[in-house]
Amino acid sequence: MPDTATVFNIAASEEVAEQGRLVVDIGSVSVGVFRFKGQVYAYRNICPHQGGPACQGRIINRVRENLNEQKMSQGLSFDKDVMHIVCPWHGLEFDVTNGIHPGDSAYKLRALEVVETDGRIHVTL
Ligand code: FES
Repeated sequence: MPDTATVFNIAASEEVAEQGRLVVDIGSVSVGVFRFKGQVYAYRNICPHQGGPACQGRIINRVRENLNEQKMSQGLSFDKDVMHIVCPWHGLEFDVTNGIHPGDSAYKLRALEVVETDGRIHVTL
């Protein structure tokens, strides 16, 4: 990894579809880029749990348990407003918009600066 921050032109915008992902290697650094609600997000492809390739896991909407007034479960549903990345090694989930595990903010993917301009996606390392 370089000593100073460098901007890398890594992909065309259309290579990262809505609710999609692109994993690229920038030198020896693996980076995952995601798109949700039109916005792009980038993270180091290293899970904070045990170092798994978190960015290569399943992409799903957050699962919520629906409770009635007595706090009894009424079943599960997908939250269309929250998208998670699921690490393929042990299943920790991370909010794609901030990289944080929803149950324990100590588990957080390392976010990278990402800019989309003129149909290209640029990541800073
Ligand atoms: S390494 Fe990602 S959940 Fe364990």
